[in-house]
Amino acid sequence: MHITREINKDIFYVGGSERRISLFENIYPLTYGVSYNSYIILDEKTALLETVDHSISELFFENIKYVLKDRKLDYLVIHHMEPDHAASIKELLDIYKDLTLVLSAQAFNMLKNFFRDVDFSSFNVQLIKEGDKLILGKHELTFVAAPMVHWPEVMLSYDNYTKTLFSADAFGTFNALDGHLFMDEYDYEHDFLDEARRYYTNIVGKYGIQVQSVLKKASTLDIKMICPLHGPILRTSSDITYLINKYQLWSTYTPEVDGVLIVYSSIYGHSENAANVLANELSNKGFKKIKIYDTSKIDTSILLSEAFKYSKLVLISSSYNAGVFPLMEKFILDLKAHLYQNRKIAIIENGTWAPSAYNAINAVISTLKNIELYPTKITMMSSISEQNLNEFNNLIEFLK
Ligand code: FEO
Repeated sequence: MHITREINKDIFYVGGSERRISLFENIYPLTYGVSYNSYIILDEKTALLETVDHSISELFFENIKYVLKDRKLDYLVIHHMEPDHAASIKELLDIYKDLTLVLSAQAFNMLKNFFRDVDFSSFNVQLIKEGDKLILGKHELTFVAAPMVHWPEVMLSYDNYTKTLFSADAFGTFNALDGHLFMDEYDYEHDFLDEARRYYTNIVGKYGIQVQSVLKKASTLDIKMICPLHGPILRTSSDITYLINKYQLWSTYTPEVDGVLIVYSSIYGHSENAANVLANELSNKGFKKIKIYDTSKIDTSILLSEAFKYSKLVLISSSYNAGVFPLMEKFILDLKAHLYQNRKIAIIENGTWAPSAYNAINAVISTLKNIELYPTKITMMSSISEQNLNEFNNLIEFLK
């Protein structure tokens, strides 16, 4: 059964949510699913903005049919070629054979590579670049290039009539939609913020400079609504300002919270004990925001997101194979891959005969930009010693 709604003058939501998916991009765990948003504009001409993932294509085609009624589909606008949005294009072309594909030249190359058995010479194709317009009637879409937010071919579009920005992956989030389509209908901080941060940091966290460039372009537009490809639609000025401000922080690698994040890898509990002893002392000394995570229990995508949130990071790890515990290694390599920077970091290693975690962690952390690394090597031999307690006290001074 179709599930659609008019979200603005002549603009209809035709996407949907799924909760069966366990790994987004086959890597990021999802507990509460995800939405794949798609929109139709009905004007003198009709335009579909994006298709959806295969998982909800049956609903999607019912939605399109219901919204179009007896009208033909004139355009498919493709902002982004990643298959979570582009997977249903071939099926769409089988049904709506007369439509014109509107996309960038780079997106068109990707389209041909993804769908090698489609003869695109039989379709009308309109290649667009930044500043080009697609006139539908009252609604005029102006295209804005957004390379690497999230792939290089990405375009956004701005509808001059309703002042709506169709923002592709930008301002999106994990989590399915629970009936409501708009951000102001949710308790966003409670229901979405952690997942929006996890989505941003893992998907585009590496491309802060490119996100900054898009935010600069967006600041020249009078935006009344933002329609992302995942998660709720933004329609109030306070929600738009709120999320743009979050993107400003995340894309400049600026912490949201002044606090200490302790991430540990522990085999038999002694490194875990160090995390708890340190946190107890931090609390005792008046630190307000402290969070502890175990790399063996918490997915790396969450650890990365939390590292972007907090201003200080303490890494505590067992040694392993003359290096560092594998899940700690995974985490620090992820920090490096996402250009993690502008933080205070301290390292505590643990080992029973030849501790090796410090050097292995330091080899990665020392390559990060704008990191204030605690200069003293703290080594635990199997468990916390009296000397370690004194070293923790000195470390706490550094973390203030
Ligand atoms: Fe939601 Fe980059 O695709």
